[in-house]
Amino acid sequence: MQALLLCGGDGTRLRPFTYTQPKSMLPLVNKPLLYYILESFAAAAVEKVVIILGPNGQVIEDLLTTEHPYGLKYEFVYQPEPLGLAHAVQVAGDALQYGPFLMYLGDNLLAEPLRPLIARFEEEKPDALVLLREVKNPQQFGVALLEKGKVVRVEEKPKVPRSNLALVGIYLFSAAIHQAVRRIKPSWRGELEITDAIQELIDQGKTVTSHRLSGWWKDTGSVMDLLEANKYFLKKITPRHDGEVKKSEISGPLVLGKGSQLKNCLIKGPVAIGAGCKISGSVLGPYLSVGDEVEIVNSRISNAIILPRGQIKELSLATGILGERVKVVGSGSKNKDSSLFLGADAVVKF
Ligand code: G1P
Repeated sequence: MQALLLCGGDGTRLRPFTYTQPKSMLPLVNKPLLYYILESFAAAAVEKVVIILGPNGQVIEDLLTTEHPYGLKYEFVYQPEPLGLAHAVQVAGDALQYGPFLMYLGDNLLAEPLRPLIARFEEEKPDALVLLREVKNPQQFGVALLEKGKVVRVEEKPKVPRSNLALVGIYLFSAAIHQAVRRIKPSWRGELEITDAIQELIDQGKTVTSHRLSGWWKDTGSVMDLLEANKYFLKKITPRHDGEVKKSEISGPLVLGKGSQLKNCLIKGPVAIGAGCKISGSVLGPYLSVGDEVEIVNSRISNAIILPRGQIKELSLATGILGERVKVVGSGSKNKDSSLFLGADAVVKF
């Protein structure tokens, strides 16, 4: 099976973090979001991955060509403008040799393994196999209507949803999708929607089957979604201490990277700290990940993602994401339980 991974979006809902890097490069427990997806591809024996990149995507191409993770074969296709998911399929046609593929939106994370889904698709040979999940806010997703187990209608972000079954951003398609994406018209938001291409398959009498997800799934559309995903992966860490711990108390799992120092700290795991960090006099966790070379002094931080090379002093942070190289000087307990979302290079003094 080949996969089409879409990382070409602007990630507008995740600004300011997506001003400086594509959404799928944002770290969860110090690993780019994208790597969790690639790992699931490798586990499902996907061989080739065609990656759709936007104008800010060079960093992804550089990373994957240098690190070549998970032994997969990568091919990069640039989508000059985010004109929709079905447009991305058009752009990727040649690279996919107009054959069947697994399509995966680069901001979706899934607990369930992909292999059984691919096996079912290959056995039953439908024209599309879509993943569905009951949600409370179907207006924010593509929505499917089922009749006797068959998908009879799909609609993109309907104002009045016909069901509470959202389309998960993971689909399996036969070669028929390549014609369908050329037959549809842009939606009200000016995009060629993959949902409309699936409806086109239904209208042509093709078979569209579905699989109902039961496990964890996250469309990491907002900063709170990112924090939730980070929390999900933090709960799975295996403790490992490669750094130096002095006069500190640790409860719960801690990953401490090479060359990192903890002094006079109280750690409430799960907490993951990258390499080369200097942390003193602080209470950290639960649910905190800290990138490489971050300095933290006299602070209290929980439920947060701190990107590399930040400097944080006297901060009390209950929830937040701090971008690369941010410098924050808090006011000790006066800014207790604050929540902060700061893009790269921000400088803040309370
Ligand atoms: C996209 C799809 C939508 C799907 C969702 C799942 O929406 O258009 O049908 O339900 O992904 O993540 P987007 O997140 O791009 O708004």
